[in-house]
Amino acid sequence: MPIHTIRLFGDPVLRTKAEPVVDFDRELRTLVKDLQETMMEAPGSGLAAPQIGVGLRVFTYYVDGELGHLVNPDLSLSDEEQEGDEGCLSLPDLVFDTRRALRVVAKGFDQHGEPVTIEGSELLARCIQHETDHLDGILFIDRLDRETRKLALKAIREAEWNGAAPPAVKVSPHATFGRAI
Ligand code: NI
Repeated sequence: MPIHTIRLFGDPVLRTKAEPVVDFDRELRTLVKDLQETMMEAPGSGLAAPQIGVGLRVFTYYVDGELGHLVNPDLSLSDEEQEGDEGCLSLPDLVFDTRRALRVVAKGFDQHGEPVTIEGSELLARCIQHETDHLDGILFIDRLDRETRKLALKAIREAEWNGAAPPAVKVSPHATFGRAI
């Protein structure tokens, strides 16, 4: 099974709402397998289909040693919240404190079309919310408070993976006013 290239921030597929899965066929099982393998290789604790360029409502997770997947997720969130570090394979090296619901009940289907319910708290709940957001074209930086989001956008602009030139190393303490010396 191929390991896929993970799409990075700026790719329109990450901002596109994914379609519900209708056919629980062999193609879907291949997608789940590819997602799992690409996630494990990264390595990551979750991966959603749009991140490998597939606009379907499917994600995989690997949290606390448990490997799983969910198709067409429908979430119920607790009112109680958690704060904690969050990152994303589509935004490499960025980690920001992100507020999420503490607990989640996720209903959906497995790759064979059997109904499943996943209940999780803390990291698993965070992961399920993050991956389901991906299916709606939402990224974790959208969930940050205003000030933190500004920092995140700055970090993205300066990120090497975003095509930014590596930062210039300043060797003189004196300003050159734009004149190369
Ligand atoms: Ni992500």
